Formats: sequence, structure tokens, C-alpha cells
Amino acid sequence: MSQSSLIPIRIIENLATAVLLFGKDFKLIFINSAGEGLLSVSNNRVSGMTPKQIWPNSSFFYEAIQRALHTGSTCVERGIDLQLAIDHKIKVDCMITPVFINDVAEEILVELVDADAFVRVMQETNQQTVQEAAKESVQGMAHEIKNPLGGIRGAAQLLERELENKDLLEYTQIIINESDRLRNFIDRMLTTSNQPVKSDMNIHEVLEYVVSVVRAENSHQLNFKKDYDPSIPDIKADREQIIQAVLNLIRNAVQAIGDEGTIKLKTRIKRQVTIQNKLNRHIIEIDIIDDGPGIPPEIESGAFFPLVTGRAEGTGLGLSIAQQLIQSHGGLINYERRESNTHFSILLPIEQCDE
Ligand SMILES: Nc1ncnc2c1ncn2[C@@H]1O[C@H](COP(=O)(O)OP(=O)(O)OP(=O)(O)O)[C@@H](O)[C@H]1O
Ligand SMILES: [Mg+2]
Repeated sequence: MSQSSLIPIRIIENLATAVLLFGKDFKLIFINSAGEGLLSVSNNRVSGMTPKQIWPNSSFFYEAIQRALHTGSTCVERGIDLQLAIDHKIKVDCMITPVFINDVAEEILVELVDADAFVRVMQETNQQTVQEAAKESVQGMAHEIKNPLGGIRGAAQLLERELENKDLLEYTQIIINESDRLRNFIDRMLTTSNQPVKSDMNIHEVLEYVVSVVRAENSHQLNFKKDYDPSIPDIKADREQIIQAVLNLIRNAVQAIGDEGTIKLKTRIKRQVTIQNKLNRHIIEIDIIDDGPGIPPEIESGAFFPLVTGRAEGTGLGLSIAQQLIQSHGGLINYERRESNTHFSILLPIEQCDE
């Protein structure tokens, strides 16, 4: 941190609020980690630049600094739409304070709070509460079905041995096969109750593995585009569970695009992200983006709940299982429809490596 400022940079750096410090020449002196995360820029790249050079699509910072220098007092603005890039807009609350030395405003301190974050955290918490209740009732039901199922299957096997008319074997086979199918279905519902067994895991290795599985499952050519950040470190996670979650999302994408579409896999590190009420300094974001039609509107709000499906042959478990597996790692899966593309984002905390 070589920047010189009237305000100790070390203090600003450790704040969870996004803070930018501009000189009176409008050049950025410093942006802290929270600011880098919120505005998707890096201090090393943008310090010394003017707001216009950093955000050519938005005049907000330029006007705010000008106003603060002109009025000489703190300005507060709420619900400002910040166009960071053509396809990236955020809503922020903002406080702009001129910093005086000998009655001259030498620097301008800009504090930003993500205005959507609170709403997002509330939505996540609600979704989690409903999902946990759904999970408990589904698991209770699953146990109740599983026990008599063993009895039904066993009785059908005994009956099979006693049958003299071998034509009737067809019926006992149906009982046995359908019992097995139901048991597999219930086992899938119950997989998420296992606690993660964590070890060092590389997310790109997992993605490559899942792509190879999905390619083997499909006879037609699948078009994958990869945009990986090679600097992403290994994390401590349950490899099998992460594979399961990614597989469920990629299978859905394959089903959505048909024969022609493309699936993009993108990985990035994000800073200062709140998940499950916990502020994470660093997380991995894994985006699975397809150019299919997206979740049908009539099921969109409930798509992460068990047994909600938009496909005739679907069981409606894929997304709810994936969400539970990622949540048990302290992470989250988000869905968003953006510019005719379907975005599923897996957010996974990195800090767990040190635990
Ligand atoms: N990438 C996607 N594009 C479009 N729709 C999707 C996508 N992912 C999920 N969906 C919709 O959400 C529904 C729920 O998905 P989910 O994976 O939970 O269940 P499913 O795919 O129907 O069954 P399964 O249990 O076999 O995964 C799907 O039926 C589909 O309608
Ligand atoms: Mg599915």
C-alpha cells in the first residue's frame, strides 16, 4: 500500500464498507477491498485514474466530487443506479465527504453501501428457512416410505420363489423393479443429509470431471466454453458433494439448450460477499451460463424447492439437492436470467481452507 493520504489507508482497507478516496484533482488515491468487490475493479489498476477513465458509462462520481468540493459539506444520496459496465449495474447508497486541511478540501472520501444487499440477504434468509422446513418434511416422509418398501420388495421376492405359474413372474418383477426405482428416488432425497467430508479440492478439476461425465452421458456433441480464472486456489470442500451439485446444474443446462446451444463455465474470485449472514473476504463464483429459454416463469419462484419440475420426465430434485449441498459448505446458488442467458452461480467461501 504505497498510496499517501491524509487518512490512514490501513484503517480504510479493513472496513467492510466500500470506500474510495479521491484527490481534489479528481484522481483516485485509493479504493479498499470492499470497494474493489462492490465495483469490480482492482486498486492497483485504477488508482491514479479519474472516474471518467474508470467508469466511462457513469458520470456519478465526477458529479458527486464536484458537488462535495463546491458545497464543502457531506452529501448523502440514496438508491443511485451505478452503471459500472454496459451489462453491469448496481444500486448503492452513498455518502461523500470532503476532507479539509487548513480550510482547503484536499481529498474526497466516498462511502458506498450496496442498496440491494439487504434485500438480497432477506430473500436468502427466507428462502433458506422455507427450504429447511421443506427438507425436514421431505426427509421425514422419505424415511417413512423407505421402511415399508424393504418389506414390500422382500415379500415380492419370497412370493416369486413360491410361484408355480411362471407367467406371474412378470408381476412380481414389476413390484421389485418399481420398489428399487422408488428407493433410488428416496436415496437421492436423503443424500443431502450427509455432512460434508472436506479435503483440498480444485474447482477446475471438478468442472473438467463433470464435463467429461456429461459428455459421456450425451450422444450428441456438446458445446462448452470455458473462462476459468487460473489464480483460484484450492479450497477445502467435499469433492463428491460439489461434483453432485455442479452435475445437477450442468445436466439442467444440457437439457435446456437442446442440440444447438452453448454452455459457458466461468470461474472468478469475488471479495467481501455476504452469504448466510456471514461476510466472506473471498469467495469463488462458478457461473454455469446457458443460452436456453430459462426456467419457465410459472415455476421460477419455487424451482429450488423439492419436487418442483418443468420437465415431463423430471423429478424436481436436482436444484434443491444442489442448493442444499452448497449451503452446507457455507455457500449459495443464485439464479438469474440476464440478456437472453440463464445464469446459475455457485458461490463458495474460500476462507474454509484455513479452518
Ligand atoms: N438451466 C436451466 N434452463 C431452463 N430451465 C431450467 C434450468 N435449470 C432448471 N430449470 C427448470 O427448473 C426445473 C427444476 O430443476 P431440477 O433440476 O430441480 O429438477 P428436474 O431437472 O426437473 O429433475 P431432476 O430431479 O432430474 O433434476 C426443471 O424441471 C426446469 O424446468
Ligand atoms: Mg435437474
